[in-house]
Amino acid sequence: MTPTSTSRRMILDCDPGHDDAIAMLLALAQPVWTVEGISIVAGNTTLDNAVRAAGQVLTVAGQTHVPVRGGMAQPLVRPLRTAPNVHGETGLDGPVLPEPAVAPVDEHSVDWMLRLLGEARDAGETVEVAATGPLTNVAAVLRRDPTLAHAIERLVVMGGAINEGNTTPAAEFNVLVDPEAASIVFDADTEIVMVGLDVTHSAIFPGARFDELRALNTPVGTMAADLLDFFLRFHRQQYGLDGVPIHDACAVAALLRPEILQTRHLRVDVETASTFCDGRTVVDLWGVTGREPNVHVGTSIDVDAFTDLMMESLASY
Ligand code: RIB
Ligand code: CA
Repeated sequence: MTPTSTSRRMILDCDPGHDDAIAMLLALAQPVWTVEGISIVAGNTTLDNAVRAAGQVLTVAGQTHVPVRGGMAQPLVRPLRTAPNVHGETGLDGPVLPEPAVAPVDEHSVDWMLRLLGEARDAGETVEVAATGPLTNVAAVLRRDPTLAHAIERLVVMGGAINEGNTTPAAEFNVLVDPEAASIVFDADTEIVMVGLDVTHSAIFPGARFDELRALNTPVGTMAADLLDFFLRFHRQQYGLDGVPIHDACAVAALLRPEILQTRHLRVDVETASTFCDGRTVVDLWGVTGREPNVHVGTSIDVDAFTDLMMESLASY
């Protein structure tokens, strides 16, 4: 049962990334959450760039009290692949952002999560976790101590898909960058929710609404609009869309308000050795494997509830 008071503690592990930045702003705008920290993983861009990007977002949002820690700079066993075609070289190309006003904490985020989750487990407490980048950090924590899964109230992962891919025909970016990590995480002994492309591609935020963010006439509203304008360029060119899937914000919203996401408890395995399907989340929709379900797979999201929550959150800064 998710604690209901302001006792709700959360960790965001991310790879900013334009949609990660919106997810950060969404998470930090919730009075019910104490955001214990932002853990950074290499993915959309290099670790150093993503750490800087997170610091820039926090600086614009006036949230520099929130600690940022860098984690794994490479996937568990594969070389890093980034997404400059989507996010630019910096990870947050587009808006002109100030340099971070506060340096990241000089502690590896895996060591920090091991410590924080260990203390929570030993105290009989739990922490909610959203992971919106490759799962390298989370997997490193759980591989080191699988019992820490018992300190995770709920883990919502932006990644994978039932029926599509965005980086290859078969694979979604976060899982493809580190499928070995995803495989470890999907077998963790806690409630795991997968917000995949089937969900996020059904929650396109229209470009016509970006002006509502500009009209807030706030640093966060302007930054969000500038980020989404850049993000839109890729989605217009790649998919012919006139809006953007804010993948990572969907995941954070689903962690905050589980009732907005429809899910099915299914068996999910991750392909780690295939010519055409490497990094595929293999979702056993009809139970044909007979294997025990391990993931609550998102099948749809209340788009209005998600969009309203996101807009209200961005307007609250
Ligand atoms: O496939 C979309 C995911 O990959 C998002 O989390 C985006 O930020 C990238 O990390
Ligand atoms: Ca991301």
